[in-house]
Amino acid sequence: MKYNVGDCQIIELDRHHSDRKGDISVVENGIEVPFDINRIYYLYDVPGGVDRGGHAHRELYQLILAVSGCFTVVLDDGVEKRSFVLNRPYKGLLVKPGIWRTLEDFSSGSVCLVLASEKYDESDYIRDYNEFMKYRKNDKVSGS
Ligand code: TYD
Repeated sequence: MKYNVGDCQIIELDRHHSDRKGDISVVENGIEVPFDINRIYYLYDVPGGVDRGGHAHRELYQLILAVSGCFTVVLDDGVEKRSFVLNRPYKGLLVKPGIWRTLEDFSSGSVCLVLASEKYDESDYIRDYNEFMKYRKNDKVSGS
């Protein structure tokens, strides 16, 4: 059993609003996201026209947020593709394991914040699309 793009969704975070002082949104382990956060990284200074991502993960869960600016995330489960425009800091995209993702159309000055369930592990990546399609067609549980 593997996840499909339909299992990935936008999570809208609460906004704690102060009049004329701005807003705060919060992510806590196991509350807003269905995993424990073990790593945070962020992507910035992405030149116009450049795509990022272009890989899948075997085990990793991620919440991807546009904390500033705007970009598009394209998810692909080998059968179906879905695009999500992230353009508000309180709207995160939950990406489950086994989904190919590409990040594109970064606006100038945008910052992509990623909350991830595991520490960096290159062996968790599938970077070759043909290998990804083989992985999707193989019905074994992810990571096995
Ligand atoms: P990668 O995940 O391939 O970037 P993207 O998918 O956004 O294009 O990461 C690019 C490089 O950054 C990778 O080769 C190694 C390094 N990196 C780390 O060292 N630790 C990390 O947590 C991440 C996400 C990347």
